[in-house]
Amino acid sequence: MVTDPLLARQVLADHACFSMVGEGGVGHMWAQFFGEEMAQFFGGARHTEVRTKARDLFTEDGARGLATLLAIAGTETGASGTSRTVALLHDTGQQHALLADPGLMDNAVREGLRMSTPAPVIGRHVARDATVGGRRLRAGERVLLLTYLATTRVGPFDIGRDYVPETRQLWFGGGRHLCLGAAVARVQIARMLQNLLSQGRPYRIVARRAATRVLVPTYASLQVRLVP
Ligand code: HEM
Repeated sequence: MVTDPLLARQVLADHACFSMVGEGGVGHMWAQFFGEEMAQFFGGARHTEVRTKARDLFTEDGARGLATLLAIAGTETGASGTSRTVALLHDTGQQHALLADPGLMDNAVREGLRMSTPAPVIGRHVARDATVGGRRLRAGERVLLLTYLATTRVGPFDIGRDYVPETRQLWFGGGRHLCLGAAVARVQIARMLQNLLSQGRPYRIVARRAATRVLVPTYASLQVRLVP
């Protein structure tokens, strides 16, 4: 298990030794859920094609598998990051700072993603023997990157916090599999916050319920109301 952000990034950047498609990687898990066609999106030529031809993703033959991929990769994670950022701004009282200075929006989104880290664990299959942080990993083993611990250890949610270089955007992964929807997710959260605060009034959470038995920690329900 890896909890250090620099070591986690080392693993994510080393594609020769660590694989997403072998047992222990999320590509392997998704292939079991959605069929072998899903695995092709995470490795080899098809993966390169997906990443380099992002604009042509919705071709007739690619659409079905790819639509599934985008839906599972982006729906729950995006909803989790958005709702939990709304809750963090409320619970810490920092929505008032954001109302007073909308220029803090980028920080609020980044901090919300850092503190929520909707993909709290990233798995990799060890494809070749490797050394990480002085520990020897053998081919065939698995490594778990505890991204939630790695990103949150720098401190609590603080929209005054600058970009953290050692963490970068570890909540979006890193290396060749860095989240393809990162820009979409950031815009989604920013738009939600802009809408919520567009009346120039704070909001309060009137009801909330945590989701249970889920892969991505999130709210099953979060109800907010503008303060009159
Ligand atoms: C807050 C929202 C999101 C978070 C935290 C997130 C997180 C991640 C992470 C950690 C990975 C890397 C997984 C790994 O290396 O094993 C990833 C990959 C990916 N994400 Fe996201 N994601 C988010 C939203 C989205 C959205 C909105 C989309 C699509 C519209 C999307 C599409 C993808 C795809 C296609 C991959 C696979 C990329 C590849 O293997 O090259 N994600 N995401």
